[in-house]
Amino acid sequence: MAQLWGGRFTKETDALVKKFNDSLPFDQRLSAQDILGSVVHAAMLGKQGILSDEETERIIEGLGTIKADLESGKLQFSDAYEDIHSFVEAQLIKRIGETGKKLHTGRSRNDQVALDMKLYVRDEIQEMDALLKHFLTTILKVMEENLDTYMPGFTHLQKAQPVTLAHHFGAYFEMFRRDRERLSSISQRMDTCPLGSGALAGTTYPLDREFTAKELGFIRPSRNSMDGVSDRDYLIEFLSALSICQMHLSRFAEEMILWNSNEYRFVELDDAFSTGSSIMPQKKNPDIAELVRGKTGRVYGALTALLTTMKGIPLAYNKDMQEDKELSFDAIDTVKNCLRLFDGCVATMRFRKDVMAASARNGFTNATDAADYLVKKGVPFRDAHGIAGALVLRCIDKGCALDDLSLEEFRSYSDRFDQDIYDAISLKTCVEKRLTPGAPGRAAMERAVQEAREYLKES
Ligand code: ARG
Repeated sequence: MAQLWGGRFTKETDALVKKFNDSLPFDQRLSAQDILGSVVHAAMLGKQGILSDEETERIIEGLGTIKADLESGKLQFSDAYEDIHSFVEAQLIKRIGETGKKLHTGRSRNDQVALDMKLYVRDEIQEMDALLKHFLTTILKVMEENLDTYMPGFTHLQKAQPVTLAHHFGAYFEMFRRDRERLSSISQRMDTCPLGSGALAGTTYPLDREFTAKELGFIRPSRNSMDGVSDRDYLIEFLSALSICQMHLSRFAEEMILWNSNEYRFVELDDAFSTGSSIMPQKKNPDIAELVRGKTGRVYGALTALLTTMKGIPLAYNKDMQEDKELSFDAIDTVKNCLRLFDGCVATMRFRKDVMAASARNGFTNATDAADYLVKKGVPFRDAHGIAGALVLRCIDKGCALDDLSLEEFRSYSDRFDQDIYDAISLKTCVEKRLTPGAPGRAAMERAVQEAREYLKES
């Protein structure tokens, strides 16, 4: 019998029950964390005189050989074992004999798994942060190179006012920057060590929980042992942060799909990041961006699933919590993959600056500026808005842009129009005069880019 709990049982577990109950097929991913937690637990037991120095040494050494053999592939996981905790303990006993049976003194799988998962999430947060930072660098590069790349800004997916590509990408820079901030605040909140909570009520052994917490890199032990074994808030927060990040990726992907379409032609995806059609030879499809958009569902799904799993669980540990693993692993893998892939997609795409500028020029994105021109000449804004609207209608009739109207035509709508109207509604003026902090005008964007550079240098 490979179970840890055979003593009070008289029958073998039903085969289907074992399969349904086991978590080793997926929690084997936690082997490094499980071994690390055990090493520190053993060191603490030794320090407290609960284990002799010799026992402690043998256990730590044994755990080290398991880790090495797993890493080299010499040791394989066997489905005889229920979970990663039983597997490692059984291996230890196999290797060092009776002493191995002392490792679990003053510990339960409940505080063990709570620790393993926290250590895992802590590492994953670091990795996510590095990927986000890399992506921000890619976005910043596009910003730096496109301070003068004019394009239409949209509301309701209708051309609204001219902006620059740097400004548009700058909005995404802010989103992914907030994603990093979210991760960092989750890291701070989850910085408590559950090890030493025991099954739920601590233990009668004189454990030094401060020691294990510090050794494992936590600020302090968790304050309540029942909460220690049953807290999955940090995981829900992480899945929530992942969902928000994936939502940002999905919006970005959606825009690049639109921009890459035959109708927009604002960008051209690199061949290495596109795919073809089995029937239509002319096709170059944005499958990567579509998959990034499509995978958003499974990330939200993980968050919803864990929230739902947790909502009815009485204190303290219940096996329902085992469900936190597969869905979290899937969501983490998915978001990391999407970040990597989409980063590559953005880094290699080609921007068609001429198409963007032409699109801004012929979409009446300067109509607000025509109205503002009249306001500066003393016309009340509401009247100016009406005049500019009538001018737009005229242009739609004629099939031209505002700048194509003659001065006489302008003046037939208002005698306040003068020759300087052409400069006032040129694309360049429309963008460059927008200098409020956060606006697309070059001077404002240069400050934003500089701030972004400093932020990436500092964190
Ligand atoms: N595989 C379990 C989990 O993932 C480990 C903890 C098991 N504890 C228990 N008392 N059955 O949650």
